[in-house]
Amino acid sequence: MSIQIAPSVLASDFANIQKEVEMLNASEADFIHVDIMDGVFVPNISFGIPVTAAINKHAKKPLDVHLMIVNPDNYLEAFRNAGAEIISVHYEACNHLHRTLQAIKQLGAKAGVAINPHTSVDLLEDVIQDIDLVCIMSVNPGFGGQKFIENTYDKVKKLKSLINRKGANTLIEIDGGVNQQNAPKLMESGADILVAGSFVFSAKDPIKTIKELKSI
Ligand code: DX5
Ligand code: ZN
Repeated sequence: MSIQIAPSVLASDFANIQKEVEMLNASEADFIHVDIMDGVFVPNISFGIPVTAAINKHAKKPLDVHLMIVNPDNYLEAFRNAGAEIISVHYEACNHLHRTLQAIKQLGAKAGVAINPHTSVDLLEDVIQDIDLVCIMSVNPGFGGQKFIENTYDKVKKLKSLINRKGANTLIEIDGGVNQQNAPKLMESGADILVAGSFVFSAKDPIKTIKELKSI
């Protein structure tokens, strides 16, 4: 299976969000990655539920919603109602991760867990079979356009072997600083989905850039 691409609208032109989403609809993107930042879990604020619903109104691709927020349990239903197909919560923001994953699934969404660069994939060992997607952060969350952390390749390999050892069906997503240089090695290491924000939206031809990433 070829790699799946999830462009992050964080890097898009918010004043023209409908056009940006229509561009993604016309592209080979597999998901639309939606970054929610609360100014508490991460040192930045992006946008929230109404903007997610507005994106969903025009989207023909499933929304992959990345919650960089504290107390995510309080907002799962609202983001599901706003159109989220995948809801990822941060490992570091959940005291009862297993319960949170069940709550996401009960809403009919796929359950994802995002881990910060300092969080070991080993911490997911006892819950991996309950996770549809692990989002490995390859930058410290909070901002687009940051430099990719090289240690990510080892984390992807480690996670891939954990998934295989446990016989889980979990997908591996990489988020932060993804570009054409690191994408091939990420794929070789075991990544299934690549999030790309600035690399896609700062390109002259985003549709072509998505196609090129996908054909790696
Ligand atoms: C970072 C976000 C990322 C970000 C990726 O906190 O979770 O999804 O938008 O943007 P780039 O690809 O520019 O690093
Ligand atoms: Zn993200």
